[in-house]
Amino acid sequence: MSSDGVARTHVVTGAGSGIGADLADRLETRGDRVVRLTRDVVDLADARAVRVWAQDFAAGTERLDSLHHVAGTVELADVADLDLADWQRQLDVNLTAPAVLTAALLPALRAARGTVVFVNSSAGLVANATWSAYAASKFGLRALADALRAEEAPNGVRVTTIFPSRTATPMQEKVHEQEGRTYDATRWIQPGTVTDAILHVLDLPGDATVPEITLRPR
Ligand SMILES: NC(=O)c1ccc[n+]([C@@H]2O[C@H](COP(=O)([O-])OP(=O)(O)OC[C@H]3O[C@@H](n4cnc5c(N)ncnc54)[C@H](OP(=O)(O)O)[C@@H]3O)[C@@H](O)[C@H]2O)c1
Repeated sequence: MSSDGVARTHVVTGAGSGIGADLADRLETRGDRVVRLTRDVVDLADARAVRVWAQDFAAGTERLDSLHHVAGTVELADVADLDLADWQRQLDVNLTAPAVLTAALLPALRAARGTVVFVNSSAGLVANATWSAYAASKFGLRALADALRAEEAPNGVRVTTIFPSRTATPMQEKVHEQEGRTYDATRWIQPGTVTDAILHVLDLPGDATVPEITLRPR
């Protein structure tokens, strides 16, 4: 809720689990309205469906305080072995869907002088073996955020990229399976810690913006 007691409205992708679910829960606990963009609302791998959903939502929404791109998908394999469908899905979900959603919701974000948060990854900064498609999508996501930040500064829209390393969520369990490693959730960043960083960005006074935050396990 804002300092003047007005409930804010937020759209959160990936709100069905992990970081996105934690963020949506915390925002609702503060008294805000959260639109949870889960897979049963729209499949983010389908860019046309994403555009239809976003345009419908935008038509009924004058002001949007924040848009959080949290959904993501990962499939590890050497470049030599990665399926075309796996390449395509990672690019579609991790990069194209955020671009399509952002474009449609920008008028409402401008009206609220709102914030766009991109949950990126340490793989958006360094690409290791077997991470090619995921890292490419996340490097691209950083480029999208950087261009958007420059374009929207005159409109008062703040744009932040969060680069977490391994975080204890279902995605990290899957990564451990694919790497053949034993999963121990206590070794990694907790989803609530990523949420803390996002809430810090949202709660920042209007005189400043945080372009990027990098989070590493201690
Ligand atoms: N966990 C980590 O170690 C880590 C590290 C760095 C960055 N990240 C990033 O953090 C973000 C959140 O991931 P998480 O760690 O919280 O993992 P998570 O619990 O697996 O959450 C990912 C979410 O994305 C949704 N999603 C995936 N494909 C979708 C699709 N086609 N349509 C709609 N929703 C889809 C999933 O929905 P379903 O449950 O229906 O599949 C899920 O709710 C991701 O962008 C990820 O890349 C994670």
